[in-house]
Amino acid sequence: MKYLIGMDIGTSGTKTVLFDLEGNTLCSKTVEYPLYQPKNGWAEQEPEDWWNAAAETLRAVTAGIDSSEIAGVGLSGQMHGLVMLDSDGNVIRPSIIWCDGRTAEECAEITQLVGAGRLLAITANPALAGFTASKIMWVKKHEPENYDKCCHILLPKDYIRYKLTGEFATEVSDASGMQLLDIKNRCWSGEVLTKLEIAPELLAKVYESPEVTGKITAQAEQMTGLKKGTPVCGGAGDNAAAAVGTGVVADGKAFTTIGTSGVVYAHTSQMAIDPKGRVHTFCCAVPGEWHVMGVTQGAGLSLRWFRDTFCSEEKETAKQMGEDPYYLLDREAEQAPIGCHKLLYLPYLMGERTPHLDPNARGVFFGLSAMHQKRDLLRAVMEGVTYSLRDCLDILKGMNASVSDMAACGGGGASPFWRQMLADVYGCPVSTVTSKEGPALGAAILAGAGAGIYSSVQEGCSASVRRKTLCNPQEENTKAYEKIYQIYQGLYPALKSSYTKLAQLDHE
Ligand code: XUL
Repeated sequence: MKYLIGMDIGTSGTKTVLFDLEGNTLCSKTVEYPLYQPKNGWAEQEPEDWWNAAAETLRAVTAGIDSSEIAGVGLSGQMHGLVMLDSDGNVIRPSIIWCDGRTAEECAEITQLVGAGRLLAITANPALAGFTASKIMWVKKHEPENYDKCCHILLPKDYIRYKLTGEFATEVSDASGMQLLDIKNRCWSGEVLTKLEIAPELLAKVYESPEVTGKITAQAEQMTGLKKGTPVCGGAGDNAAAAVGTGVVADGKAFTTIGTSGVVYAHTSQMAIDPKGRVHTFCCAVPGEWHVMGVTQGAGLSLRWFRDTFCSEEKETAKQMGEDPYYLLDREAEQAPIGCHKLLYLPYLMGERTPHLDPNARGVFFGLSAMHQKRDLLRAVMEGVTYSLRDCLDILKGMNASVSDMAACGGGGASPFWRQMLADVYGCPVSTVTSKEGPALGAAILAGAGAGIYSSVQEGCSASVRRKTLCNPQEENTKAYEKIYQIYQGLYPALKSSYTKLAQLDHE
């Protein structure tokens, strides 16, 4: 029997899944790790934690099977994180990851050095704190001793590739989020690298997502249970991989994911750029094609923050019931009405990308009154995240990205309550897929395409992705949400200058 392996090196943990060739999950293992926040708005992780989790999860899913039957391994993972290695391949400093917002100054420098127009024309995006280039510039300025030691710059999943294969390689979808790639021509941009004075030798070789980038080494065989020589394909950034895992590989198809971050993603065979840069245009995992996506920094992150800060009782009860705490939170939120008795939440815990592009923005409960109960706050968090996703969708529609088919995925997308809220707030039907594995399934399909099991990414999707439930919007709910969304849209502009002043305070 032949197998494929998909890995997702995420922010809360690494998930590794063993699939059959029809996309069925045979074994899945997740290992979590910490997120370090040394200062307000900073976010770091240890690449060694990712590798330990990758090796442990691989050992778990390969135990008990004949590893020589694994046709290929595909990698996906959190995008944008900066991994710096010295000449011996050792990690120099913790990775500054996607939701770190320390680089507002470096973004202004990048815009000035490259020129706003050229930056948008080449990298298809304005300088953003989440992207890797500003993180590189930050280390160069603030930690020159670390920058001097740096011989290789990798993205999170590509560090795992290096540990598995010994190769310094990446692929177009994840490389797009570094702000150093020429998005139209799918190669590093000599112009941007020269203007930012970043040596091209530091960067990995760029492949298309289904291409084979290397093979499992003898050393990795010992640590993971994979067989030496097993091909490892390019894979994709988590969103481009989730697109493959939900079958979003043709024009008209789109998905919303509610994971730690929230994303609204639409496939496009024609490259399209938002002139205001509020949504990202990246290469996608289908060779020669692209996608546009809006990103909400604090989606599932908002709910996790609420759970961990205010819901220890629910966590305890869930443990005793053998239930997921989020299931109980859904039940509690359901008891609050739409609009939560006039309570709104802005999900900007880690700054915001779409639509505000403001790393200084922070979370807000607006309209809080003495009558509010925990369930109102809880539902307000979910509604606020959903409005932020609606902001993303409206921009994509304004760019003429055709969105005729919307799927939901990620932890939040798996909740029927949240999915109905999405359908109501979007005012369109939202479907799901049978597999819960999103990015890991996408990575495995790409591995299958790379190993020659499928003749194309699209064929891999037809063989492996199946749609299930369809949630239709309920007209009266859509109307009720719409009124609150109008108020939500006015809140950020009213607070913008206060956010800047707050960021300028000396305290942490
Ligand atoms: C996308 C982004 C996030 C991360 C984390 O631009 O920053 O979706 O990939 O998962």
